[in-house]
Amino acid sequence: MDVNNYVSDTALTDLYPAHVATIKSRHDSALERAGAGHAVIFSGAPHGVFLDDYNYPFKANPHFVSWLPLTNTPFCYLVYTPGEKPVLIYYQEKDYWHVSPAKPEGYWPDQFDIRIVHNLDDIAGHLPESLDKCIFIGEVNEDAHAFGIERINPMTALNVLHFERGSKTHYELECMRSASRRGVLGHRAAARAFDAGKSEFDIHLDYCRAVGHPENDLPYGNIVALNENGAVLHYQHQDTDKPAAIRSFLIDAGARVHGYASDITRTYAKRDGEFSELIQRFDQLQRELVAEVKVGLDFASLHLLCHQKIADLLLEIDVAKGSAEALIESGVTSAFYPHGLGHLLGIQVHDVGGHSGDDSGTLIEPPDGHPFLRLTRLLEADQVITIEPGLYVIDMLLDELNGAPAEKMLNQKRIDWLRPYGGIRIEDNVRILADGCENFTRDAFSA
Ligand code: GLY
Ligand code: MN
Ligand code: MN
Repeated sequence: MDVNNYVSDTALTDLYPAHVATIKSRHDSALERAGAGHAVIFSGAPHGVFLDDYNYPFKANPHFVSWLPLTNTPFCYLVYTPGEKPVLIYYQEKDYWHVSPAKPEGYWPDQFDIRIVHNLDDIAGHLPESLDKCIFIGEVNEDAHAFGIERINPMTALNVLHFERGSKTHYELECMRSASRRGVLGHRAAARAFDAGKSEFDIHLDYCRAVGHPENDLPYGNIVALNENGAVLHYQHQDTDKPAAIRSFLIDAGARVHGYASDITRTYAKRDGEFSELIQRFDQLQRELVAEVKVGLDFASLHLLCHQKIADLLLEIDVAKGSAEALIESGVTSAFYPHGLGHLLGIQVHDVGGHSGDDSGTLIEPPDGHPFLRLTRLLEADQVITIEPGLYVIDMLLDELNGAPAEKMLNQKRIDWLRPYGGIRIEDNVRILADGCENFTRDAFSA
C-alpha cells in the first residue's frame, strides 16, 4: 500500500527542507566534536543466513534513515561535508535475482546530489579524497564496506547525534502522527477479529492487511496475545489454533511511515464484567499519567508515580493488602509491573538516547530497582515518547516473593482470578509540549 495514503507528499514537501537543515546542523556539531571533516553514513548490508544464500530481512541504519526516507536500499552511502549539498551514493545493483531500488522520486531527492552507481567498485570514486578526515557511521560487517575509513562510529559524534535525535522535527512529527493513524487502522481490525473469535495468527493477518505492511516492514514483531499469553511481555508467537475459551486480548503493534514508527498497545475483554471494568480503570490510570507529561518533567519520577498508582490499584482490587509504600518497597508492584513506563520513539521503536544526560555521553542511570526503565532524561519539547503502564500475573516473578515479607501481602485467590486474563497494558505515543502533550494515539483512535 502507498504510504502516501497516510500523509500527503505536499505536506512533507513543505516540511522536509527544514528537517534536512536540522539534520545538517546536528552533523556539523557531531563532526566538530569528532574533529572530522566528513560524515560517511552507510545504509547497511544485508545479513546472510548461515550456510545458505538468502538474507534476513534488511534493517537500515537509523542514522541513514534520519536523512532520507530510504528503508530498503542496502549499500547506499550518504556523504555529508559541512556547507556542501549532501551526496547520496545510490546503489542500484544490476541483479536479475532481485528487484533493484527504484529511481529516486518524491519530496526528498532535491535535497541531495545523487550519484547512481551500479557496481560496488564504483562507490569509492564518490567518497571524499582524504579518508583520514572522514568518520564512518553504520554497521560494518566487512571491512570493504568502510572503504578504508578508520574512524568507525566514534562516540564523540554519536553522543551528539543520539542526544539530539530525542526531539523530532516537524517533518518527523508529521510522519509519526501518520504512523499512529496507520497503526490504529490495524488495531481496529484486530479488535474486530478478536470479537469474531479468531486465533492469534488470524488476528495478526487482519492487522497486517489493515496497516498494509508485509510482516517484515512492521517496526517490531507484533505482540498478539490471547488469555494468559498477555502476561508474556514480548510474546513472540502467533498461535494458529484458537484457545478453547477466549477471555482477553492484548495487542502491542505499530506501523511505519517513511521510516518512523508507532508503538501502540490496547487490551480487551471478551465480555462485560470485572476484567472489562479493570481495563477501564487501568485506562483511567494511564490517562492520569499522560496528563502529567510536559517539558521539564523527570521521566524517572513519572515511572515511580506509576508504581504508586499500581500499588493503589492492587489494594483497590484486593489482589494485595497492606500499605502502598510497603507494596512498592517489598517488590510487589515490580512483580506485577516489571517494565519501564515508556521510552523514546522515532526511527527505532526504542529510539536511542533515552539515558543521555547531555550530548557528550553523560548517562543518567535508571533508579535502583528499575533496571528496565529506558528513558531517564528530562522531557523536552517535541520528544515523542510512549506511556505504557502494565499489570500482569507473571508467576516467575511472583514465585520470587515466596518466603519474603511480600508473600504475605498477596491475595492468592484474587491472583488466581486475574491469572487467566494474562495482563493489561495500554500504550500511547505522545509528543511533549510546554504545558502537556499531543497524544498521537488517542487522536488517531478518535478521528
Ligand atoms: N513494543 C515494545 C514496547 O512497547 O516497548
Ligand atoms: Mn513501547
Ligand atoms: Mn509496545
